[in-house]
Amino acid sequence: MDGGGNDGVQPKGWPGQLWLEGRTIVHLLDEQPRPSHMPRGPAKRTGPGFLNPAMAPARTRSVMLLNDALQHSWLVKNEKSIRVLDALCATGVRIRRWRNEIPSQHQSRLRISANDLDAFALQWARESHRTHPPSQPIEHEPEDDRYGKTSTQVFENGLDFRQMDARMAMLETGYQWIDLDPFGSPVQFLDAALQGLSRTGVLEITATDTAALTGSSASSQARRYGAKGIVDVYAHDDAVRLLLATVATSAARLDKSMTPLLALFDGHHVRVSCLIQTSREKASAIGDSIGWRVRENDVPYRFVRHPTPEQVRRASGPLWTGPLWDKDIAERMTEEKALELCQPSSDEMDSMRLSGLTWTEEDIEYSARELRRSVRYIADAADLMSREHLLLNLDSLPKWAGVGGAPKLETLIGGLIEAGYAAARLPDLEPLLVTDAPFDTVLEHVRSTSKSSK
Ligand SMILES: C[S@@+](CC[C@H](N)C(=O)[O-])C[C@H]1O[C@@H](n2cnc3c(N)ncnc32)[C@H](O)[C@@H]1O
Repeated sequence: MDGGGNDGVQPKGWPGQLWLEGRTIVHLLDEQPRPSHMPRGPAKRTGPGFLNPAMAPARTRSVMLLNDALQHSWLVKNEKSIRVLDALCATGVRIRRWRNEIPSQHQSRLRISANDLDAFALQWARESHRTHPPSQPIEHEPEDDRYGKTSTQVFENGLDFRQMDARMAMLETGYQWIDLDPFGSPVQFLDAALQGLSRTGVLEITATDTAALTGSSASSQARRYGAKGIVDVYAHDDAVRLLLATVATSAARLDKSMTPLLALFDGHHVRVSCLIQTSREKASAIGDSIGWRVRENDVPYRFVRHPTPEQVRRASGPLWTGPLWDKDIAERMTEEKALELCQPSSDEMDSMRLSGLTWTEEDIEYSARELRRSVRYIADAADLMSREHLLLNLDSLPKWAGVGGAPKLETLIGGLIEAGYAAARLPDLEPLLVTDAPFDTVLEHVRSTSKSSK
């Protein structure tokens, strides 16, 4: 099906108001309030064409991850091209950011398709792309689809827009990269996404149904994810691990394995990026990485593959218990890299102001801070998050250590590193410590810091 062509007619309400996300100008509907910088939590939805500003950091990381795959050739070798689909693209901010912000030397290797069912959102996406084309024009030859039929792709300056049910769009050709960003739960799209990927591909998923994933809505969690939760300080980590377990088990049914690249609880949603590979052998092994988090008395928790009925009462699961990130990739997700890729130069700012963007120096400063925040703490925690580690919430340590108050997280991390352990802060609104030190050692550090601060 055609991609909701404009035929020269502008969408109702066009041009709306101009805003900048990363280095990309976006048009917001007039009825959408001007976003605050660094918004957190779910935004109030204002209908089709609405852009959720709280998802900007996730889109920044998406630009960085796709760039990393091209720059470091870990997805396709020999400078081959990557077929990418944003299956639920709405007004097309993510695809336009991929096109604008990934450096020009990689652009000819990207074949980007963008799909949404909503005609208005697609029209808005196309008009935005037409009004603010990428600095380097791109022409692609359409490729035949996976059924050997002549392609229906029509690239408009490097973007191919499609208007169909996402489940059909994902199955049209073998994509090496699929982004799935639905309203609420991604489960209804998961099988089609896994089947739509080529033998090796990246699947990036956003899930905003955090009540189900954390277990605060126990019935939705049981129905949708076949799991049981405990809503305590581990609920966010459990939500991430539950989504990964769901992807891994769905993939294994199709003889595919799942390896997490980056997985985060980000304020009001879970975002996971996974490498999916066709391999019966690896798919059979995923059982080794699925289990339950049992809350204990001697340590905060233990991962157990087959809990006893008594343990199940104080456990959440089944969850992904393996590593959550890829070390090398996450180590490259630095604040410097975010700014290098996604921060506009002063010349670009001048030209965007000429296009009608009314941004002050303060806006520019805030947006640079938001870019840094998108990846803050990731590189430092990369090593620990890609292997076995202990996760602790600073606020629950005084109770375990029998002291009046918690030390500063930075002091505790410094002390553990000085003692020869690895320790880092996790990106989360909560003060989360990740370490390979034994739990007793962490408690000793908490006690000694508490004594020395008296
Ligand atoms: C959360 S929005 C996507 C936001 C977008 N990825 C972004 O970053 O701005 C979800 C989109 O899914 C679209 N949608 C819902 N069900 C769909 C389906 N079955 N097939 C295709 N699109 C669908 C909606 O029209 C909406 O634009």
